[in-house]
Amino acid sequence: MVKLSHVVPFGRSLAEYRLMFNLTDLDLSRDILDAGGGPASFNAEMHQLGYRVISIDPIYQFSGAEIEQRFYACASDIIRQVKDTPDGWVWGYHQSPDDLLRNRETALRRFLADYDQGKAEGRYLVGELPDLPLSDRPYDLMLCSHLLFLYSNHLSLEMHCRSIAALMVRGQELRIFPLLTLERVRSPHLEPVCEVLTDLGYYVEIVPVCYELQKGGNEMLRVTRLAV
Ligand SMILES: C[S@@+](CC[C@H](N)C(=O)[O-])C[C@H]1O[C@@H](n2cnc3c(N)ncnc32)[C@H](O)[C@@H]1O
Repeated sequence: MVKLSHVVPFGRSLAEYRLMFNLTDLDLSRDILDAGGGPASFNAEMHQLGYRVISIDPIYQFSGAEIEQRFYACASDIIRQVKDTPDGWVWGYHQSPDDLLRNRETALRRFLADYDQGKAEGRYLVGELPDLPLSDRPYDLMLCSHLLFLYSNHLSLEMHCRSIAALMVRGQELRIFPLLTLERVRSPHLEPVCEVLTDLGYYVEIVPVCYELQKGGNEMLRVTRLAV
């Protein structure tokens, strides 16, 4: 089990986002919000390709140097814990724990190279679910990777419900990945969250995806206003 006292600033790439969220080329052209974007290179890579993503995260109150320092303060411990639990991981996209670290470092470097410019352009916004610092601007697609459900031991059911409701006020569709906790079991919040969302009139579905690092963690939750 990976033990964390706080949410780790590990970031993923555009290629990983595409796999985690089944993102099509059409999806990439949509107006996207990345909630809890952290030091992912998704925003930076999308920007380079001419697409626009807004990322929101409390760590954007820090400088790039401070985020880098926080990354390296926990990176080797995380990788050691991954190595200590060899049965818990699927090595495919990432070939090994060391390859995983290299990929996370590459994402961090791409993020850092874009961070100051992206902040100046309003692409990286300081904010913390469930209270979003958003204008009334609507989004077509909202993504949340490696925060909700993963940190179920740290984040309450109420926080999950309030966060998802706050996001759905601003957009048409939300995708959340993974649905497992850090202990690599399905989040105890998933079922009650789905019940609450269904009662609120949203359509929820659990969708298989072609990305699996945590063993069994190859599903996302898709929330939409209507069954489409
Ligand atoms: C494990 S990182 C994932 C980053 C990115 N989504 C990815 O998958 O590459 C989790 C991020 O969630 C952020 N976070 C923690 N609490 C949050 C909250 N209440 N609202 C938004 N982001 C939060 C952390 O600062 C961290 O950057």
